Amino acid sequence: MCGIVGYIGKEEALPVLLDGLKRLEYRGYDSSGVVVLGEKVNFEKTAGRVSALEKKVSKNNFFGNIGIAHTRWATHGKPTKTNAHPHTGCKKEFFIVHNGIIENYKELKKELEEKGHKFSSQTDSEVFAHLIEEEFKDYHNFEAAFKGAVSKIKGAFGIVAVHKSDLEKILIAKKSSPILIGVGDGEHIIASDIAAILGRTKEIIYLGDNEIAVCEKNNIRISNLKNEAVGKKVHKVDISLEEAEKGHFETFMKKEIFEAPEVIKNAVRGRLIESEGTSKFGGLDDISERLKDIKKIMIVACGTSYYAGLLAKYWLEDFAQIPTTVEIASEFKDRKASIDKSTLLIAISQSGETADTIGALKEVKAKKILTLGIVNVVGSTISRETDAGIYNRAGPEISVASTKAFISQATVLALLTLFFARQKTMSLSEGKELILEIKNLHGKIGQILSNQKNIENIAKKYFKYKNFIYLGKKYNFPIALEGALKLKEISYIHAEGYAGGELKHGPIALVDKDFPVFCIATKGSSYNKMLATIEEVKARGGKVICIATSGDKKISKIADDVVFIPKSSEMLSPILSVIPMQFFAYFVARYLKKDIDKPRNLAKSVTVE
Ligand code: AGP
Ligand code: GLU
Repeated sequence: MCGIVGYIGKEEALPVLLDGLKRLEYRGYDSSGVVVLGEKVNFEKTAGRVSALEKKVSKNNFFGNIGIAHTRWATHGKPTKTNAHPHTGCKKEFFIVHNGIIENYKELKKELEEKGHKFSSQTDSEVFAHLIEEEFKDYHNFEAAFKGAVSKIKGAFGIVAVHKSDLEKILIAKKSSPILIGVGDGEHIIASDIAAILGRTKEIIYLGDNEIAVCEKNNIRISNLKNEAVGKKVHKVDISLEEAEKGHFETFMKKEIFEAPEVIKNAVRGRLIESEGTSKFGGLDDISERLKDIKKIMIVACGTSYYAGLLAKYWLEDFAQIPTTVEIASEFKDRKASIDKSTLLIAISQSGETADTIGALKEVKAKKILTLGIVNVVGSTISRETDAGIYNRAGPEISVASTKAFISQATVLALLTLFFARQKTMSLSEGKELILEIKNLHGKIGQILSNQKNIENIAKKYFKYKNFIYLGKKYNFPIALEGALKLKEISYIHAEGYAGGELKHGPIALVDKDFPVFCIATKGSSYNKMLATIEEVKARGGKVICIATSGDKKISKIADDVVFIPKSSEMLSPILSVIPMQFFAYFVARYLKKDIDKPRNLAKSVTVE
């Protein structure tokens, strides 16, 4: 959840650490802290953004070539200065930063308190600093004490630790929380996210679960919990730092919405066999035989990725006749879903680090079910833990509210539907037609993007309303849910998404002149039913904003405001209709002067359950 950065090398650690923290800030940002070891211990923490920490440390002389830093997203204890990381023990000799949750911290804390340890924070993390201190009494050796402490904790952790009397090493432990080590020239940069490392090196080591790394300036040793050495590959990563920067856009969210055409092209590139009217995925080669036995699909995901999954369910059942269920990952883990070896489990996740989704995945892996990841972040946990995978290729998504990742997920899932459908009932000519539609998508999105002013004007008209209902039918039902999620995430306006036909079963009671209804009424098999629903809203004095197919004259007569999108196949229309939804949320939030890229209470990657 949080951001971790560590540095050991020949340069001053502080600027590297602060730069890394800023690049990670989107992941968790309620407080931050840093410790740099040199002739003295330079230690500072603060509540709030990294800029607040930067201001504080700029007044001091933080000299030293080794240090660790952290941005926190609280799980235990309020986001205060005291609870911010790094944490230290009673003697202030060991400093640690932690990502995740130490499940048995209460028991450990009690034991440590009985031994005389005094705690200053309410976090679960602090216990680890005291644990090292306690173990050190026996071992008189930092590394051994660290390993001893790791063996005592349960839960999820990425932990990085330093010792004020050992300026030669940083120690790292990992379980169910991402930790990477950048290998530079006479230096190592440790981080929980690749973005913090890319500015200095593109050579990365991914630490595995239950592995411990001893990082020196010029050397790394990695071992497992049994103290056996583990050989690791150094991966060369080809993502540029520029990809993670805002460009000329005022926010990452807007930049990312505008990347949609490129995102679609990237998702499709090299994945079509046009002459056969089908798609192919390099990532599925290894499991092609096993895929033939698949009779059912189960999709697990959270939030926006879950809505992409819901869309895929409609597609996979309509076009490939494969019974498909979609599960909210956190729910899946807590119940006994019916799943057997004829089921393909698809985990969808932008970050590939969502703890709930990883948890669901682990659950089915234990049952030897075939698993497939649809993931954006290369090398992330889900991409490594699944039997096979398809990358979204959307590039880094910085804005907390997911936009381009959804577009890429939907595109990949459309291609996957084509892949399965062609093995079932979809004819060659239907396959070819779908391919043509897919290839035209990015151009159509370009047209919607050039219409942003119209959506901005509508947002200007509606941004003061306190409640919204979003309605869509069939393939556009998940888009109604996603549209409502986008609005609440970044504007904090109450919005609910429903299937169009559900309105009359309850939510219509809410409708009056102050409760606008946002309807997706594009041309297709549900069009007439949506028109009837819109009439029901109008009859009750409700205001209606519509997304409609260009050329539709009827809709302008009944809706208060309309955003026209280009004609497309009914199947792919949601990939177009979601764009005005994203824009609407964006402009409403902008009129409300919200912090669009970093909405309150949210973090980009939810790495705790
Ligand atoms: C999207 O706008 C959200 N912030 C959130 O719902 C997100 O989609 C969810 O947490 C899943 O993330 P993932 O795709 O990285 O697994
Ligand atoms: N559980 C720890 C805390 O609440 C770490 C949270 C995080 O990952 O930022 O401080």
